[in-house]
Amino acid sequence: MEPILQGWEDFARSIQPSHRLMDTIELRDHAREILEEVAAELALPNQSRTRDAQGNTAAEIHADTRVESGFSIDQVVAEYRALRASVLNLWGRREKTATWFEVDDMSRFNDALDRALAESVARYSTTARQSQDIFLGVIGHDLRAPLHALSLGAQYLMRSEDADSKLIQLGSRMFNSTVRMQAILDNLLDFTRSRTGIGIPIRIEEVDLAVLSEQIAEEFRALNPGKIIKTHAEGNVSGWLDAGRIGQIYQNLIGNALQYGMAGTPVSILTREDGEEIILSVHNDGPPIPPEVKKNIFDPLRRFADGEKCTADRKNLGLGLYIVREIVLAHQGTINVSSTQDMGTTFTVRLPKSIKPTIAA
Ligand SMILES: Nc1ncnc2c1ncn2[C@@H]1O[C@H](COP(=O)(O)OP(=O)(O)O)[C@@H](O)[C@H]1O
Ligand SMILES: [Mg+2]
Repeated sequence: MEPILQGWEDFARSIQPSHRLMDTIELRDHAREILEEVAAELALPNQSRTRDAQGNTAAEIHADTRVESGFSIDQVVAEYRALRASVLNLWGRREKTATWFEVDDMSRFNDALDRALAESVARYSTTARQSQDIFLGVIGHDLRAPLHALSLGAQYLMRSEDADSKLIQLGSRMFNSTVRMQAILDNLLDFTRSRTGIGIPIRIEEVDLAVLSEQIAEEFRALNPGKIIKTHAEGNVSGWLDAGRIGQIYQNLIGNALQYGMAGTPVSILTREDGEEIILSVHNDGPPIPPEVKKNIFDPLRRFADGEKCTADRKNLGLGLYIVREIVLAHQGTINVSSTQDMGTTFTVRLPKSIKPTIAA
């Protein structure tokens, strides 16, 4: 055990983040336990793993401490590579018996180590992701109060009767911006919430989408004088849905249509009954969505992975449609987009009029 641990420690020391020097005990922390587990697996292959009181294996605990110490994931993997190399090397230097028994043992050693590695990697990414989500959640939450203060100030300017018209205009522009920022923060919070696995919570009540869509369109008209926003409803479009969440769907889709549609052309919102479903669609004219954006339009992370750049003129986080789709799925509905040069862009959402109460927790 000792020579293996020494080799591991030397290696970990050579790659540790320079801003935080660790002592020997920290560097060796779980190596001994991981090796003991590997050895136990070699002796008794079908034995169940040893876990601590919280149900964690040594490899999982090891990953947690590495996240805390600022190791990157490839450094964690490198540590395992070093451990494997060191064991195989010491093994090879021993007097060779070269029986099949040893070959068999070696492949079982590799299996056991791979399993520990897989556990460490899985834990590392979960822990890292959770801390990112918490970080995002805290930013989103902490920005609310100062934003609220700004919004009140802007409204005060906007409504003050003795101010000159330039100030009033400035106030209303500032207020528009705070409304946009609020929408972005709401999306951010929902995004982190949906990634923690709970999904988007919905509360159903009876809601008339003709009234709701008109109300939201009216808010947009007040904020965007000069834009034409048309609403139309057909048939009975009230259902048992989450009014606030459906409002968010309209908000995001209309906001996009105004932002990306061709200036000077109207945005049309159609809400209609179709049997047991309600169909809502938001349409704008303008150049079609480029195929590379359209491919992963509901999945911001994949778009970024695909190389979408955060250009300076980007005003939003790119989470809007992701949230819209999450809300649609939580209502057991579907969403589609069609976008061509001639027909413009239309997002279409189909929602059952009443979702099954078992899922609508
Ligand atoms: N109505 C639309 N017309 C053209 N492009 C759109 C439209 N709606 C969305 N898009 C494209 O899809 C992308 C993702 O939209 P969204 O998820 O709302 O994020 P964001 O608006 O924050 O960028 C947008 O950046 C834009 O390129
Ligand atoms: Mg958007």
